[in-house]
Amino acid sequence: MSITTFSSPGAAIPASGILTRFNEVRRSTLALCEPLSAEDMMVQSCPEASPAKWHLAHTTWFFESFVLREFLPGYRVFNADFSWLFNSYYESFSAFPEKRLRASFSRPGVEEIRCYREHVDAAMERLFERELEPEALRRIELGANHEEQHQELMLTDILNAFFTNPLKPKYRDQGSWSAGEDARTTAGGDAGATREQGNKGTRDQAAPLGFTQFEGGLKEAGNAGGFCFDNELPRHRVWLEPFAMANRLVTCGEFAEFMADGGYRKPELWLSAGWDAVKANGWRAPLYWTDRDGAKNDGAGRDREWTMFTLRGELPLEELAAAPVSQVSFYEADAYARWAGRRLPTEFEWEAAAEGKPVEGNLLDSGNLLPIHSTNLAQNQNGAKHQNESGTNYYGDCWVWTSSAYLGYPGFKPLEGALGEYNGKFMSGQMVLRGGSCVTPAKHIRSSYRNFFSPETRWQFSGIRLAT
Ligand SMILES: [Fe+2]
Repeated sequence: MSITTFSSPGAAIPASGILTRFNEVRRSTLALCEPLSAEDMMVQSCPEASPAKWHLAHTTWFFESFVLREFLPGYRVFNADFSWLFNSYYESFSAFPEKRLRASFSRPGVEEIRCYREHVDAAMERLFERELEPEALRRIELGANHEEQHQELMLTDILNAFFTNPLKPKYRDQGSWSAGEDARTTAGGDAGATREQGNKGTRDQAAPLGFTQFEGGLKEAGNAGGFCFDNELPRHRVWLEPFAMANRLVTCGEFAEFMADGGYRKPELWLSAGWDAVKANGWRAPLYWTDRDGAKNDGAGRDREWTMFTLRGELPLEELAAAPVSQVSFYEADAYARWAGRRLPTEFEWEAAAEGKPVEGNLLDSGNLLPIHSTNLAQNQNGAKHQNESGTNYYGDCWVWTSSAYLGYPGFKPLEGALGEYNGKFMSGQMVLRGGSCVTPAKHIRSSYRNFFSPETRWQFSGIRLAT
């Protein structure tokens, strides 16, 4: 099968750099699977999620389908059935199974999937020995970025899988990171402080909510250079009225106040579709919040009654009260903003605020695996600064919902051929999120990056940054 040649928005790395990047990304994916058993890797616990085993296979399928078959003469496919079995949604490439059936793929087994990866990696090695044409390099770079997207999805999907497991297993133990430990030092460096004192310190340490003013005016939005997805182009002009952006994300403690004030019971705070979602789904808290007894909570409980499930297991709210709230839908973010007398930023306001700022923050590379208070992050990184000169950190912890619908920029052109289905066909009924999360690889995110999900989506690390 041949794929129409396309022009990628740009391969930003020289050939030798792409080989290094390819190898790093492939290794990282396997490393993320180390804590998982074969059984863990089969679970598909919500419609949005996929089994980890499927992610391993699909990312490999991408290189086989869009690189090797086209650019490595004599390439032998590993298994002809895999061409359609691990296709996600590329209609013009081949048929594919229904997404909800991915957990039923007990065959091929995980060992066969690992062999598939090795087969493709070995073929890629042979490909790298050749003189590579620019189109091949662009596709390999796209494949590396695609696999990083799936690394993030794999962790969000495992979090959901473990949350639905009655034993509530941890993906990783606290290890070098401990909410309690950080809380103690945050509270004043008293290593002998009690856990209660430490927790209180964390709760009290949330930086005061402040807003940075921006003048607005005629700005440019969209990618200005380097690798990007097609949906970040073309760069174009936007007009912004003066606006202000919060200096930090909304915290769990603040969101608990919204809940205690009856936020989930006041229709006047919600968009109509959001209120419908509250009623239909029985929403009373962010996705992974439960009360300590595991009983249903009426939403008016005190914050200490709540626990939240993370990749490091279940933690009490008081340990994370100063950490950004996560796993909220666009509707919840919007209702919270209305309750707080603010609003969500547009994607262009966010981009104007973040452009030119260093890509630093609580991203996957930090190893925290959950949103944490930025002071804690600085301590984890041996005092390294993780806030820019204005004191505002725009990256990591949680993707922030914007008030912008996911649409093509003026003059948007999807990639040609099957890869044109990568982004463009989803430009309906979705909202844009910006900034990356605690499970986004640092090399993957940038100020022009546009993530997108439907407004009721809650299984992602999605949070709230207020604007006004
Ligand atoms: Fe994919």
